[in-house]
Amino acid sequence: MRYAFILGRVYTLSLAELLQKLGNLGINYKVLACAPEVVVLETDQPIQADKLQPQLGGIIKIIRLLDTFQKKGKEYPSNALINYFNFKRIKSDYFGEYSGKRQFGVSIYSLDPAIRFREESSRIAFLIKKILQEQSVSVRAVLPQFPSMALSSVQVNENQLLTKGAEIVVVSGTQRVFVGKTLTVQNYEDYGRRDYQRPARDEKVGMIPPKVAQSMINMAGNLKPLDYILDPFCGSGTILQEALLLGLRAIGSDLEEKMIHNSEKNLEWFRNRYHVAPGRYKLFVSDAAEISLQLPRFPISAIVTEGTLGPIYGKVPKKSEMKANFKMLNKLYTQVFAEFKKFLPEGHRVVMCLPAYKASFTDYEYMDTVDFALSNGYTVLDSIPPELVKKYKFLKVTERKSIVYDRKDQVVAREIIIFQYGEERLELSGNEAGIVESQTSDVTE
Ligand SMILES: C[S@@+](CC[C@H](N)C(=O)[O-])C[C@H]1O[C@@H](n2cnc3c(N)ncnc32)[C@H](O)[C@@H]1O
Repeated sequence: MRYAFILGRVYTLSLAELLQKLGNLGINYKVLACAPEVVVLETDQPIQADKLQPQLGGIIKIIRLLDTFQKKGKEYPSNALINYFNFKRIKSDYFGEYSGKRQFGVSIYSLDPAIRFREESSRIAFLIKKILQEQSVSVRAVLPQFPSMALSSVQVNENQLLTKGAEIVVVSGTQRVFVGKTLTVQNYEDYGRRDYQRPARDEKVGMIPPKVAQSMINMAGNLKPLDYILDPFCGSGTILQEALLLGLRAIGSDLEEKMIHNSEKNLEWFRNRYHVAPGRYKLFVSDAAEISLQLPRFPISAIVTEGTLGPIYGKVPKKSEMKANFKMLNKLYTQVFAEFKKFLPEGHRVVMCLPAYKASFTDYEYMDTVDFALSNGYTVLDSIPPELVKKYKFLKVTERKSIVYDRKDQVVAREIIIFQYGEERLELSGNEAGIVESQTSDVTE
């Protein structure tokens, strides 16, 4: 089975999350093609897109690819598809049971970012519309506005394409064209609600976006329903709420009583709104450097935390200030990671954010060392298979295998890093097992 996944803005993080999640679910895959925005996978079993979509913070759309065609170099994808669409196929493979006026959209994703198609969506839409109108089916086509070649999840939703027709998607490479239909799109409104409608928000302390919290949890290894995760710097409780949504149990602590109070308020709101069973989380005040003194005796499967990023800056701080912050964090985290060893079993993970200060548009000042973890017996895991990073140059990982999540307006970015306690591998997850260069894969894609 072939699927295309539309990646969120920080492509590397989105892809890392997706591949680790598939690995956790025991789904083997081959990467057939990958470009900024889109990855094409062949999986050894069907994907339950409805279930998976709300669990993947970094994935914008899940598309089932139904057919593949050869294409010559710069040939337009519509040429390769000219004889493909017919009434029977459109009706049975693309449109659902809906019987009113059909609405459909056409989106194109190019596997070569240098190639942009101006009129292709309209050409393909015209082709489909003509076939349908010949059979007296009343249709309306929704098209992206150039320079965009694809519809956004908002446009797909607002035009009810998935219920009243289809979003037809063409993924075009230099030698192949994949065509299919969108199964699901990200529920952007719900992510917004989980962020902005919480009763206790503290902008001064900073909150991680729920999407990113979800990606981090998905990178914390093969967690089973009702496993416990711990966030010992929980702040307003974003990571905890996302863990609850993913069916886990959550323990949160923070040095500040006020933050625990905020987390309590937020999680109570969250529990009611998202129908989370009572007793799924526990909160308490504690210095993370002494957390074992108060931690309830629950088996912790993973630690997922933003940690403390130090002061929030409006402009890039002086190098000396950065150095002082890094030094302070190194000292704190050396104690914290020694604490974690008291209850985190070997082979289990700590996924955390470290501060990275913007030095230029593309460059960051990172903490110069993660000795706080290494000296305590942790190793750094690859966030994403290194073969992929080697092959697809747009994927960006740091020298120590971590991924930077940044926002234009922020001076301090988050460096997301995965540590594992001890050398032992918990189990070989599907992603490492599944990455095999596809026999059929285009060299250029
Ligand atoms: C960046 S905030 C975490 C925000 C959180 N991820 C959220 O989305 O709401 C960092 C938190 O670490 C807490 N903190 C700082 N030093 C700490 C320590 N030594 N032990 C525990 N918590 C600490 C702060 O009070 C703050 O709430």
